[in-house]
Amino acid sequence: MAMKHFISIAETSREDLDEIFQVSFRLRAERAAGKQNEPLLSRKTLAMIFEKPSLRTRVSFEQAMIELGGHAIVMGNAEVGLGKRELAADVGRVLSGMVQGIMARVFEHQKLLDLVEHSTVPVINALSEWSHPCQALADVMTMMDEFGKDLSGKTLAFIGDGNNVARSLAVICGRYDMKFVLGCPKGYELDAAFIDRLKKQAPGVDFRMTYDAAEAVRSADAVYTDTWISMGQEAEAEQRRIAFADHQVNAKLMAKAPKHAIVLHCLPAYRGYEISADLIDGPRSRIFPQAHNRLHAQKGLLAILMGGARGRREG
Ligand code: CP
Ligand code: NVA
Repeated sequence: MAMKHFISIAETSREDLDEIFQVSFRLRAERAAGKQNEPLLSRKTLAMIFEKPSLRTRVSFEQAMIELGGHAIVMGNAEVGLGKRELAADVGRVLSGMVQGIMARVFEHQKLLDLVEHSTVPVINALSEWSHPCQALADVMTMMDEFGKDLSGKTLAFIGDGNNVARSLAVICGRYDMKFVLGCPKGYELDAAFIDRLKKQAPGVDFRMTYDAAEAVRSADAVYTDTWISMGQEAEAEQRRIAFADHQVNAKLMAKAPKHAIVLHCLPAYRGYEISADLIDGPRSRIFPQAHNRLHAQKGLLAILMGGARGRREG
């Protein structure tokens, strides 16, 4: 069944993900060779709504639209008032008559579902408190760059909060037959209902959780971390810093991981908290190519959802 929206990895099939990656890698190779990409999104516009700050997501989507010959309209929530000035469902309905795609970064995942309700154009999740599927696309591209296109049997250890980024990664690891280990402090696990669903939605997933960060990275091919304090959790900053103190990704922890293990972070990073500065800048870090892959992953996603790039498979 062809993908209509991109709200979560759980609703995206392996076939659709494979297609996104094929187009993403092709467009990236063209760009790297100094060629302009075909204007796959010529005369198409993406409306972008941000309830929270962003660097990578905003720039990668807007630049992707530009490089594929289209346009983007960026709106902060002060002007749109998603769910406040206007029902999110009505926003989706209105925008559907004007633009060819909608993306939104929201506090409540429900608002994305409301946007989808009457939308006749694709809706993309640009991060909610529940998931961050666009990030997971760039993360898989980065691991494919490192380990090759077949990721089956590889292990991703996520050290930190069982948060939006961790959820999307857990599901995409399942799609690619990878092992996913969460190393988190007590009280910050992925919840049982999510894990139950994960096992149904991604039967290939090999999921494990431990409170011991060193144990989590022991057989990792990639060690991933994210902020301890996600956007919207600022009031819990102090208690979270205390709870996560033993879960910093640093040289001592990486010494417990296999020698080839790389370090990933979705950024923005808080140096000296979830990750030490030397690791971000060190030889095991793939963090900046990972950030750059946001652009390429977004292009593949947009080309398929909005540009009819579907079916033009290439190796
Ligand atoms: N990783 C990520 O989504 O970054 P931004 O919050 O800057 O978009
Ligand atoms: N978990 C973080 C990711 C930022 C890209 C947040 O939601 O703030």
